[in-house]
Amino acid sequence: MDRFDYREGRLYCEDLAAADLARRFGTPLYLYSAGTLRRHYRKLASAFSAVEPLICYSVKVCSNIHILRLLKDEGSGFDIVSGGELHRVLEAGGDPAQCCYAGVAKTDDEIRFALDAGILLWNVESEAELENLARLARETGRPARAALRVNPDVDPKTHRYITTGKRETKFGVDLERAERVFGDFAASSGSKHVALTGVQAHIGSQITTVEPYVQALEKIVALIDRLRAAGHEITTLDFGGGFGADYESGEALEARAFAAAIVPILEGRRLKIIMEPGRFIAGNAGILITQVQYVKAGGDRTFLLCDSGMHHLIRPALYGSYHHIWPLEPGEDFVPEQRTRDEVFPGTEAVDVVGPICESADFFAKDRHLPPTARGDYLAVFCAGAYGMSMASEYNSFPRPAEVLVDGSQARLIRRRGTYDDLVAPERDVGD
Ligand code: LLP
Repeated sequence: MDRFDYREGRLYCEDLAAADLARRFGTPLYLYSAGTLRRHYRKLASAFSAVEPLICYSVKVCSNIHILRLLKDEGSGFDIVSGGELHRVLEAGGDPAQCCYAGVAKTDDEIRFALDAGILLWNVESEAELENLARLARETGRPARAALRVNPDVDPKTHRYITTGKRETKFGVDLERAERVFGDFAASSGSKHVALTGVQAHIGSQITTVEPYVQALEKIVALIDRLRAAGHEITTLDFGGGFGADYESGEALEARAFAAAIVPILEGRRLKIIMEPGRFIAGNAGILITQVQYVKAGGDRTFLLCDSGMHHLIRPALYGSYHHIWPLEPGEDFVPEQRTRDEVFPGTEAVDVVGPICESADFFAKDRHLPPTARGDYLAVFCAGAYGMSMASEYNSFPRPAEVLVDGSQARLIRRRGTYDDLVAPERDVGD
């Protein structure tokens, strides 16, 4: 699944020992494997090749411009949700004509920016947004192509905060209303400036079964049939992202398992297929390295107090998510085969792995069995490549971590460590 593995009791990222990189670049450190990013991208591209999809990597997942550039070089387009993400894509040399733009509350400034850039597809989330897009396309003289984001009302069986394809969420338009939106828009003057020729859906994230996709896509292709029968030209189907990563060994499905269920529904329908994967590509491609500052007993617990926490990886605090944690240099006696919460490795002890933030939500793991650990040891928090750094903050005024990309035996700093000056720079010289 990824290229982080233990050799002679030390964790390697591709050909380099992670602890050597921690010493060289300091901690906290996000460490990414270029080979893993490419491998996952290629797995998707080859599994879905029968429908020749445009793969639009979801920028929000891990948005470092060097990672965007690596994926662009693989042929990827981009799924963006803000003007800032478009800026990143352009900075990385990405092609705006391979970008699709979702998001429920796009501002006029963001819309003008993306109209100017000439993006491929607007994934429109409401009637009001469609009207506004048409107005701005007319004013700027830049025609646009749009897909209506629909809400197929299926349960992706994932955490409720990352469920987006159910009726009660804020995303997209109900299937029943969708036909009316197409009809009303075709009859309006807005259709002179915006070609509404696609349907998009994104039902959720960290999805580890095929059924939600099958249910959603069956509803969506039936909608497309009805729209075509009513005389609408539908050229594009974008089915979003959501394929899960392997937080615990064996949790994720292979790309070809998703494809085996999805491709037969899409084949032969004269549709340009777009997909917006993120986590599947980047999740297992990154780890967060933190250094234990102190070991402390408190009540009946042992705490490993680390130099990174919820400000750098908020997923455990926000979603209660599991991230496997293990020392970078546990020695040969402590190398488990699997990343799983179920196995209690002999000789380990239960600890809470926590950060420096002044909140009790600041933890990576509770009651986790780890090998004996001392001040100065490095820990890897696995599967941190997706929604890790991109959700990091400077809360408690800790500068952001550095990011390093490993490609074979080469390690490259792709984001310098934040500084104290970075913390205050935007507050200086702002008036009196
Ligand atoms: N397309 C759209 C419109 C999305 O909203 C998302 C993710 C994706 C694609 C990519 O989904 P993926 O393939 O990565 O599942 N912060 C949460 C996940 C939020 C997902 C937001 N939307 C987490 O850490 O679990």
